[in-house]
Amino acid sequence: MAQSITFWLNNQKIETDEHAGRLVLDYLRKKRFLTGTKEGCKEGDCGACTILIGELRGEQVVYQPTTSCLVPLGEMHGRHVVSIEGLNLKEKLNPVQQAMVDRCGSQCGFCTPGFIVSMCWYVMSADEEPSLQGFQRAFSGNLCRCTGYTSINRASLDLVEDFGEGGRFEEIWGAGDRVGALCQAGLLPDYFSKMTERLAAIEPLDEERHDYTDVADYFVAGGTDLYVQVGEELPRSQIKVLNRHPEMKGVIRDDQAGHFQVGALTTFEEFGQHPDIQAIMPRMDHYLHLIASLQLRVRATLSGNILNASPIGDMSNLLLALDTTLVFHDGRRERQVAMKNFFTGYKTYDKEPDEIMTRLLIPIPHKDTRIHFEKVSKRTCLDIATVNSGAKLHIDDAGIIKEASLTVGGVAAVPLWLEKTQSFLEGRPMDADTVRQGLGVAHSEMSPISDVRGSAEYKRLLAHQLLSAQFTELYPERVSFDALMAG
Ligand SMILES: Cc1cc2nc3c(=O)[nH]c(=O)nc-3n(C[C@H](O)[C@H](O)[C@H](O)COP(=O)(O)OP(=O)(O)OC[C@H]3O[C@@H](n4cnc5c(N)ncnc54)[C@H](O)[C@@H]3O)c2cc1C
Ligand code: FES
Ligand code: FES
Repeated sequence: MAQSITFWLNNQKIETDEHAGRLVLDYLRKKRFLTGTKEGCKEGDCGACTILIGELRGEQVVYQPTTSCLVPLGEMHGRHVVSIEGLNLKEKLNPVQQAMVDRCGSQCGFCTPGFIVSMCWYVMSADEEPSLQGFQRAFSGNLCRCTGYTSINRASLDLVEDFGEGGRFEEIWGAGDRVGALCQAGLLPDYFSKMTERLAAIEPLDEERHDYTDVADYFVAGGTDLYVQVGEELPRSQIKVLNRHPEMKGVIRDDQAGHFQVGALTTFEEFGQHPDIQAIMPRMDHYLHLIASLQLRVRATLSGNILNASPIGDMSNLLLALDTTLVFHDGRRERQVAMKNFFTGYKTYDKEPDEIMTRLLIPIPHKDTRIHFEKVSKRTCLDIATVNSGAKLHIDDAGIIKEASLTVGGVAAVPLWLEKTQSFLEGRPMDADTVRQGLGVAHSEMSPISDVRGSAEYKRLLAHQLLSAQFTELYPERVSFDALMAG
């Protein structure tokens, strides 16, 4: 018999037999009449529906801001869902609300709950010194049509002053349990301090075990593609909520096996923030900033990006450059396939319908390997690439290219691994001349088409520039931009 979905919604325990595929946004607004959470685009683009989802990790509840318009209710079992109403204090405004009022951060008000939830998340959880840039990263997924952002930035600056060095709440920011300290200071509702015990008391669902045999119409991971594509169908279909399988998450560096073992459901943010991943890609923070928004990155999974099979998937292109192997399970047997052999055509790939991607195996690069990701899109935040590119390059002491793995997205029907270019480059000296000739080979491997993102010619030009940048960024001492352009 199906078990009820049990979770805490603000300060209320919920047990519901609603369909697991129902959207959290619809449940909040239509079933619970919590209409502070706004419905704007319903496609993850505007942030008006932002909520916090708290998950028990060890002794702490860890909160993430996300867009409730792309989250299945079935995944909320054992979680703490916080809507804007759950951040209200009884007698006064919380500090974020007060700063927004003081600085006129709201005009029509439609976006305001979403902004406040994102900013409250930053105050509750950000693992850095408070800064305006930090607040801006936190609300990178929130759009406002009215204020021009200046007043919201001013409100953020007030909060930086309050919680930063010498500010009246400085001690709270430095506290080991910041959420507890905010509750104690009366800046967050007191019930937050009870959530660890409350979530620990919820029994896991039976299906939260290693069992990949379930038959389903849809496998839902982060839901950020599926709900945009088939959102109407999911609450009427048989779905498998993959995120109920925590064993399919996380990054483990396995030196003996020579690879990172990465759970397929690891989110962009979990992957990019992992210290072992940052060690091989020191600019990962910057790359993350180019991908979607924080609200999306805490949901979007690596497997979802690969199986969405978009030629311009950001993680797909990066993971392909890293020579990743994909691991699938159909409930009976495990199967591995190299990512470079996986994509067979536009949105087609080597996978059976009942197979679940469980893991990714990423070879641990040689210590001298350099890795980089480039992307061009119309907007910096919250935009899909026009063209993107991943690179993994390694030269020996004499400057000879030992390994060159290059990808480019948006110039073929699939994320394109530049096989011929790689063969051309390996064994040649890393210099402007080699790169110039290598770019010529790369062009022969591309077949861009014109579409809404740009003409074929424009994409070819972008690909040329991004591939050039891979070399000038990774080996500036050997391949300068001027030398490359001079030839
Ligand atoms: C506003 C917005 C901005 C975006 N910006 C970007 C961006 O900048 N860059 C970018 O690359 N993408 C972007 N995306 C696209 C999307 O977020 C990504 O493709 C994301 O990785 C999808 O992952 P998911 O976990 O949400 O997948 P889902 O939507 O849950 O699933 C996608 C597909 O993969 C299947 N699937 C997922 N995991 C598994 C598994 N383990 N086993 C079997 N099947 C599985 C699902 O059944 C489904 O067919 C954006 C999307 C939105 C809505
Ligand atoms: S309604 Fe726009 S992001 Fe959810
Ligand atoms: S105040 Fe109107 S959209 Fe932001």
